[in-house]
Amino acid sequence: MTKPLVAGNWKMHGNANTAAELATHLSLHDSAFVGVEVIIFPPAVHLDRVITAAASSMVSVGAQNMSQWASGAYTGEVSGEMLNDIGCDYVLVGHSERRALFAESNQVVAEKFKAAQQQGLTPILCVGESLQQRQQGQTVKVVTEQIAAVTDLVGTKSLCKGVIAYEPVWAIGTGEVASPEQAQAVHAEIRSQLGSQGANTRIIYGGSVNATNAGALFAQPDIDGGLVGGASLEANEFLKIAQLMVQG
Ligand code: 13P
Repeated sequence: MTKPLVAGNWKMHGNANTAAELATHLSLHDSAFVGVEVIIFPPAVHLDRVITAAASSMVSVGAQNMSQWASGAYTGEVSGEMLNDIGCDYVLVGHSERRALFAESNQVVAEKFKAAQQQGLTPILCVGESLQQRQQGQTVKVVTEQIAAVTDLVGTKSLCKGVIAYEPVWAIGTGEVASPEQAQAVHAEIRSQLGSQGANTRIIYGGSVNATNAGALFAQPDIDGGLVGGASLEANEFLKIAQLMVQG
């Protein structure tokens, strides 16, 4: 398997000082996570200083979102090329908050995935069902459609070069984490859909991950790491989570 991955999505939190401090702290402690790739996703406005703070450490930096377009009259948008230019390696596409609050369709998310790869970034495709969809037994259908939109546009081979984050919407920011068995079942389903090309694709879990529940999740055979929200804002908690992936 390729290197497991623990990512911190800071969402819209912090200020210039706290962003630089958190990145510096993690960078100074990067010997703690040899064997696991650690990526942080600060707000776009702090990317530059976080990249500077993390330079020459093993911490990678990514953006929480990007435009599907390469350049042009798109006020307020940031292109993949711009992110690549300042030293970003990764970008989240299709986070459920962007799908729900900013009306990003499966098609738009797929276009962002494609643009990210064209512009030299590794996209992390976020997928996941709402509580209602789970209760109606539609989890696999929803996740399958979200993934199919990307494979229809770029093909399975390109999808497999990215990362997939399974983040059930009902587990995000709620403290209600998916059980290791629930998460593993969806991860295994996703991996089986990718076929042989997906054997080494990293499929990570997100939704209320913390240092208490991460170990059991990371012990599952198809869970290759975590996408951590709230707990990634706490340096020591996030370091502990990353170390659990090293041990797992
Ligand atoms: P929480 O860890 O705060 O539930 O957030 C998960 C998430 O949305 C990461 O992208």
